[in-house]
Amino acid sequence: MISLGIESTAHTLGIGIVNEKEVLANESSVYSGEGIHPRKAADHHARVLKGVLESALRKSGVSLENLDLISFSQGPGIGPCLRIGATAARTLSLRLEIPIIGVNHCVSHIEIGKFTTEARDPVTLYVSGGNTQIIAYTAKRYRVFGETLDIGIGNMQDTFGRALGLKFPCGKEMDNLISKGKKYLHIPYTIKGMDFSFSGMLTEALKYLGKEKKEDIAFSLMETAFSTVVEASERALAHTGKRELLLTGGMAASPRLREMCEIMCKERGDRFYVPPFDLCRDNGAMIAYQGMIEYKSGKRMRIEDTAVKQKWRTDEVDVTWLS
Ligand code: FE2
Repeated sequence: MISLGIESTAHTLGIGIVNEKEVLANESSVYSGEGIHPRKAADHHARVLKGVLESALRKSGVSLENLDLISFSQGPGIGPCLRIGATAARTLSLRLEIPIIGVNHCVSHIEIGKFTTEARDPVTLYVSGGNTQIIAYTAKRYRVFGETLDIGIGNMQDTFGRALGLKFPCGKEMDNLISKGKKYLHIPYTIKGMDFSFSGMLTEALKYLGKEKKEDIAFSLMETAFSTVVEASERALAHTGKRELLLTGGMAASPRLREMCEIMCKERGDRFYVPPFDLCRDNGAMIAYQGMIEYKSGKRMRIEDTAVKQKWRTDEVDVTWLS
């Protein structure tokens, strides 16, 4: 079966095409204003959608008539952005007279990770701009074992980067700064049970601006933030007895975070996986894949059920596709 997926939860408008064996196309366009302005980001998605769709069809060699299923990110995410993807998905489904499936964005990150690595039943550390969660499958649901109590770790990094005058997205420049930091400055280490909080760390880091070297501040801030999520991931591994860690989300690109995960897993004798970066960050292929496995497990959706769900939690999804 050939499934087309549309991703539009935040800054990325992505369209992917997959079948049971492989990703056939994974095209995207990223809104790059200062932060994410909901309406401007939604305008961007509407503007680029046709071009991204055409390019995905061209890359895959698939024509619209060959599609069997339309999938889209139903949530969680930014309302105006979500609605652009949902509207396009409904239009394609009705026009082509093929089924439609709305999927949970966070769960899609995990399943595409399992599809493209050897991870089978991992603890997932999902780190991005808007989301930071530690997730594992147990008793028919993807349960959240730990999560941010305020902002996402990527959001914290972007806000700090903006204060330094870096252009959004600033991941690469931040990685560079972090690698040059030598002096560790005190940053509050905030972990409550298995949950963590980043806004206090950010406030403290911003106070050092103009007083300490920016390399040292960036290093101290991110080293502290990464330590909290790696510590909570280790506890989730210990608690669930699972032996695999899957790192995904846009922040999975960070070399230092990967290194810390790798060290922790090595010390425990557990396996560590990171999908190819194009499938870690927000993308359409993961939505196409998620829709396909849900459809094949028997899930069906009427157009009336396709309203977006801005606050749809990972642990609210009925997992019909795993035994
Ligand atoms: Fe994401």
